[in-house]
Amino acid sequence: MTKKAIITGATSGIGKALAQLLSNKGYSLGLTGRRTELLEELKSSLPGSVYICTMDVAQKDEAMEQFQQLIDKLDGLDLAIINAGCGQANPDLNWEMEKQVIDVNVMGFAATANVAMRHFIKQGHGHLVGISSVAAIRGYHDVPAYNASKAFVSNYLQGLRHKAVHARLPITVTDIKPGFVDTKMAQGEKIFWRASTEVAANQIYRAIVKKKSHAYVTKRWRLIAWLVKLLPQWLAHKL
Ligand SMILES: NC(=O)c1ccc[n+]([C@@H]2O[C@H](COP(=O)([O-])OP(=O)(O)OC[C@H]3O[C@@H](n4cnc5c(N)ncnc54)[C@H](OP(=O)(O)O)[C@@H]3O)[C@@H](O)[C@H]2O)c1
Repeated sequence: MTKKAIITGATSGIGKALAQLLSNKGYSLGLTGRRTELLEELKSSLPGSVYICTMDVAQKDEAMEQFQQLIDKLDGLDLAIINAGCGQANPDLNWEMEKQVIDVNVMGFAATANVAMRHFIKQGHGHLVGISSVAAIRGYHDVPAYNASKAFVSNYLQGLRHKAVHARLPITVTDIKPGFVDTKMAQGEKIFWRASTEVAANQIYRAIVKKKSHAYVTKRWRLIAWLVKLLPQWLAHKL
């Protein structure tokens, strides 16, 4: 039977690469993002069945309704990839920038993940994937809201995984923590170990197939995560 997936934030970067990969693997897709023309372009380039929806996840009530409508159009859902996100350096603590990150990465994430998870619980199975970040592990002076928003994402996913286990339901919840991936979001960063979007999408797909609960993208970022976790505060303050 054809598998059905929704990817939020599919107009560019990691989400777009995942859409291309899953469509080539035979998935029927529901794709979202704010830039309608990019969604239309992507749809016409993909081999499989695709529904698109112009969605701003910061408008959370509308986004939740639209997400449910996409599930209805697909006539079910096997895989939800909650990927839409934003973030940029904000050294001056500009409140509008902090707020936007929280609206999109926290409220928008939780709102769309909530609709997907409730659907999976109702149907008795499913796979929820959230795109967090290595940034979730520790706060950082230039991007306090971004790192905190990703800590929320990972912790929320942990709670949903726990819920599925408690309910004894075959629902997989996967927390993806990318390091640097070559997208607009990573521009201007002090970049090292930067993966292409294709490599990132392939590694995320492998984590999905293996039903992993956690995956670092690329895998070597596990080492950085381990070091960042162990770093004493006095040393972290020097960075
Ligand atoms: N690139 C990295 O190094 C890196 C590292 C760790 C984690 N991540 C995470 O990976 C995810 C994808 O980012 P990316 O690197 O692929 O960057 P990207 O190319 O900028 O993609 C971000 C996607 O999110 C969508 N989006 C942003 N704001 C939205 C909103 N208000 N409503 C709906 N969709 C929205 C964008 O679509 P529209 O603009 O069309 O709305 C776009 O499709 C994000 O969650 C990001 O935090 C990235």
